[in-house]
Amino acid sequence: MRYSQELIEEIRTQNDIVEVIGEFMPLTRKGNSYFGLCPFHNENTPSFSVSADKQFYYCFGCGSAGNVYSFVMQTENCDFLEAVKILADRVGITLPKPEQSSEEREEERRRNILFDMHRTAGRFYYEKLHESQGSNALKYLNERGVLPNIQKKFGIGYAPDGRDFLYRHLLEKGYNIDDMLRSGLVIKNKNSDGYHDRFFNRLMFPIIDVTGRIIGFGGRVMGSGEPKYLNSPETMIFNKSRNLYGLNFAKNTRRRELILVEGYMDTISIYQAGFHNVCASLGTAFNESHARVLKKYADDIIILYDSDQAGINATLRAIPVLVSNGFNVKVLQVPDGKDPDEFLKYNGALEFSKLLMTAISHIAFRINCKKREYDISVPEDRVKFTIEASKILASLSSDIERDVYIKEVSYETGISVDAIKNEIEKILNIDKLNFEKEANRKRRYISNNSSGEKSSGKALEKGVIKAQKELLSAMASNINVYNAVKEYVKPSDFLTDVYRSVASIIYETNEKNGQVFPAEVVNHFQSVEEQKAVTEIFAVAFKYNDNSDLEKALNENIKNIKKVSLDEKSANATDIEDVMKIVQEKRNLDKLYITITNG
Ligand code: CTP
Ligand code: MN
Repeated sequence: MRYSQELIEEIRTQNDIVEVIGEFMPLTRKGNSYFGLCPFHNENTPSFSVSADKQFYYCFGCGSAGNVYSFVMQTENCDFLEAVKILADRVGITLPKPEQSSEEREEERRRNILFDMHRTAGRFYYEKLHESQGSNALKYLNERGVLPNIQKKFGIGYAPDGRDFLYRHLLEKGYNIDDMLRSGLVIKNKNSDGYHDRFFNRLMFPIIDVTGRIIGFGGRVMGSGEPKYLNSPETMIFNKSRNLYGLNFAKNTRRRELILVEGYMDTISIYQAGFHNVCASLGTAFNESHARVLKKYADDIIILYDSDQAGINATLRAIPVLVSNGFNVKVLQVPDGKDPDEFLKYNGALEFSKLLMTAISHIAFRINCKKREYDISVPEDRVKFTIEASKILASLSSDIERDVYIKEVSYETGISVDAIKNEIEKILNIDKLNFEKEANRKRRYISNNSSGEKSSGKALEKGVIKAQKELLSAMASNINVYNAVKEYVKPSDFLTDVYRSVASIIYETNEKNGQVFPAEVVNHFQSVEEQKAVTEIFAVAFKYNDNSDLEKALNENIKNIKKVSLDEKSANATDIEDVMKIVQEKRNLDKLYITITNG
């Protein structure tokens, strides 16, 4: 799906970056640039700059950089297309239906059929629950305490006890078998011709995406039986990591606080008790991708998993995923190893609201879990526990939080606050050493690899990278430089895909319009990482005193780039004639001197 580059550029130019960022955070003006505290890393003195001329932002602290689209993508945690929509809305531009390739159109058509089929299936199951064959299922549901209005709200249904009720229903409605198989609702018979339903004699929970469409089902056996829950497989429309059960309702509360539970019934019971900000990850462990989805709707998460060992382990695994995605994380535990659904059934909504108040910070939770592994009354264990607790505390970024919990650990163990502080200090120093080692290792790795997926080690010397940046930047900002250089250096001479693409865009745009706006070049890249790399090319000023100074610097850069490019060509050449040609070109390189003429 793509919009035309012209439209993307039109939207970008109408959204002045200083205004857009200024609406998000305070900026102070210094000359033609604006400064503020970087929203992408923690800092006390502003190193985040926004250039009104270039329409870029650049952080001298953490290196994040980009144009107005990159900023929206990073702050709204959205992809490029969504950023285009947001900024088009902001200035009142109506987007046309995006241009689609024929494959994309076909894929969308198929997806629409699947959405349609799921709605049909959802309605079918819902009706069956209320017919005579569903009476046991309805009885089961009622006995579990789900009230009729909530049954309806969640669209709960019943898959009848037979091999192919749904299959025949879908056939009658005109769906074809390939689409049915693609939906995961119908399965080919193993040992005979024909097809059967995935779900039979199960209570059916439709899984609904945030836009309100049914994308899959969870089916529960009534009474005992295996598996207890059978879920739809992942399909073209159902991704288990990108959808959470109940989020379609939870998002409407606009609370920015979500209760995260394990299961279908927990979600439904908590919702029924009046807390609508609840959702569950679906039959998969909570992961990065879930966290990114939730980021759109919440800042605070209360993890409320079963209080059995499996639930505790799952909580301990979910905490770092959530914390590293910037959530404030609290943990709530239901007493006596129950799950929230059981708690509500026996204690009611009022007790549940009291329980909610007892949620503790994830730090306290982690320390408590550790404490259970030791017997604090034994000196040896006391030491071990305190060291483990110090490790947890060392990972905190807030000094205040750390201080609070140091005091608690000290109180519980009788070990002095100072001793614990020293222990933490020690851990932090070791971490720092390791971090630096790791950073050095990465730096080496990057300088050896990153800039040239397909080029040799020599090609990656910093000098060439700098030369490429300066040359591209000069060719974009000065048409005379471009005209002088274009015959000698081609986009294919640049190393790494990003630089080659940037070069092609600069060449094309100069040919077409006679000028290039660097912030426009960034539009052509759709990931924040690429946008950052492209912005870096233009963000750092290329300093020279006068035209002859510029000319000298550019000629050095050109030789530098050409030499590496020719080395690489000769390394890859298999034909002796090609090698000869390259050798000749290299000789000519010594004599090469490009003069830049004005006008
Ligand atoms: N789950 C699953 N497949 C299973 C078992 C569980 O996908 N075979 C998922 C379901 O989403 C389920 C959640 O894990 O809701 C929690 O499982 P569990 O605690 O076993 O079920 P409960 O939610 O307590 O279900 P119920 O109250 O109906 O027994
Ligand atoms: Mn349960």
